[in-house]
Amino acid sequence: MNGPRTQAPFGRRMAEVTGNESVGAYRLISVLDSDGPPDPRPGQFYMLSARDCWGGGADERPYLPRAFSYARAHEDGTLQFFLEAIGPGTDRLARLEPGEGIGLVGPLGIGFDPGPAGEALLVGGGIGAAPLLCLSDELGPEARVLLGFRSAVHALGAGLFAEVQVATDDGSVGRRGFVTELLREQLDAGGRATVYACGPPPMLEAVRALCAERDVPVQLALESGMACGYGACFGCVVPTRNGYVRLCVDGPVLAGDELETAVVPGAPH
Ligand SMILES: Cc1cc2nc3c(=O)[nH]c(=O)nc-3n(C[C@H](O)[C@H](O)[C@H](O)COP(=O)(O)OP(=O)(O)OC[C@H]3O[C@@H](n4cnc5c(N)ncnc54)[C@H](O)[C@@H]3O)c2cc1C
Ligand code: FES
Repeated sequence: MNGPRTQAPFGRRMAEVTGNESVGAYRLISVLDSDGPPDPRPGQFYMLSARDCWGGGADERPYLPRAFSYARAHEDGTLQFFLEAIGPGTDRLARLEPGEGIGLVGPLGIGFDPGPAGEALLVGGGIGAAPLLCLSDELGPEARVLLGFRSAVHALGAGLFAEVQVATDDGSVGRRGFVTELLREQLDAGGRATVYACGPPPMLEAVRALCAERDVPVQLALESGMACGYGACFGCVVPTRNGYVRLCVDGPVLAGDELETAVVPGAPH
């Protein structure tokens, strides 16, 4: 996809953590990135690593930085990351305290290519809400936001958005079921739509298929394991209809019609 891209300065730089708050099951981490560009594009990402306790510990992990979409970027250089602790890297980042250093490279990759706000349907699953936050800020209240979460404590993440329809797997908040049911209803209600989605691969595949059946354009923010984040390691390759691409430089946002499936063989989930 030829979406927008803000170029990263060369090399890894240090920034300062200025906040780390709990948002239900997630963390919202604020970082003052004074030396980075103030204008990353929604869907772009950063490779993050904590300054201390990285590359060591009981089982000598994690060694490599981890990839995170930025959730918000403020004019003063503050970046916010919305994060779920699921392993050693995210665990360490989730425990960062204000004043600590954080290494970052970015913004990287190609983000969403937003069209008219009135046609935009933003669809997120769980932590996939992260890149949709800056996208919904940019598009404004005309864009509709649909989010799906596992449970009520996860659904607290929806509170970061101004207006949103929520579905939970257990029905504790909003509609019981998957966010793709909300999407199906919106698409079947008619009108022009462009869908922007981020979430776990089975959700993205369901979104891709719903849109393909109805000839609705869709942009999908995919994930794969990323070691470098800037095209050097080929660890992030995914198959498309036009051959393999490196998700970190050719994505992570890809057009749905470029994909046979959004369930990437060998991907972590
Ligand atoms: C472009 C991009 C943007 C991302 N944005 C965010 C974000 O905004 N917020 C956030 O919390 N996470 C985000 N992630 C996912 C995040 O990078 C992984 O959760 C993290 O690398 C896991 O590291 P770990 O050391 O904690 O866990 P690991 O021990 O590396 O992994 C723990 C478990 O998660 C699985 N896993 C690891 N990496 C991924 C991945 N990339 N995708 C799916 N499953 C994975 C592993 O297979 C394992 O089961 C993003 C990933 C990419 C590629
Ligand atoms: S993460 Fe290294 S090439 Fe994409």
